[in-house]
Amino acid sequence: SKYKVAVLVGSLRKESINRRLARAVERLAPAELEFGHVRIDDLPLYDQDFDADYPAACKRLKQQVEAADALLFVTPEYNRSIPGVLKNAIDIASRPWGTNSFAGKPGAVIGASIGATGSALAQQHLRNVLAYLDVAVLGQPEVFIKFTDGLLDEDGRIGNEGTQKFLQGFVDRYAAWLRTLLPR
Ligand code: FNR
Repeated sequence: SKYKVAVLVGSLRKESINRRLARAVERLAPAELEFGHVRIDDLPLYDQDFDADYPAACKRLKQQVEAADALLFVTPEYNRSIPGVLKNAIDIASRPWGTNSFAGKPGAVIGASIGATGSALAQQHLRNVLAYLDVAVLGQPEVFIKFTDGLLDEDGRIGNEGTQKFLQGFVDRYAAWLRTLLPR
């Protein structure tokens, strides 16, 4: 059977380069990985009062994460950290206390930015959050994509052979790592 990978993209905008990066990785992935994008654009801002009666959209998010075998976070960098929309989704899925939907799942963190960091600082913050949430995060390869015109199109086609090879190496390594961790 296939490994179900829940994809969380930390950008809501239509032209998101991080969504393009997610699609590029999906195109290159071996057939045993099945990707599902997790919707985060309709979530309310997390409020601890939710814990008494979790809103429907928040329950849906938790169920989607729980149904997945593995996680793929694709994050932009906002002011040297992860965007609030992504942190909000993570906070929601981590609660109510004692029901952390991420617990024990393996994951990978990748990202793109237009700056020279390639979202590295945001990814480092995210790794810290995920360590606390008991997500085992793939150590290498790190994927810090500096976006330039024509590098990735809306369908995830890659305009540069070096980047294509590099992302192929990433997704092959990710799949190999999942095989060592997850029963088939
Ligand atoms: C940015 N951007 C940005 N880029 C970067 O490399 N380091 C940073 O700290 C920031 N900070 C930042 C803050 C805010 C509020 C915005 C809106 C943008 C630029 C960012 O890389 C660029 O907008 C990307 O296109 C965002 O990713 P998506 O939405 O295209 O996936």
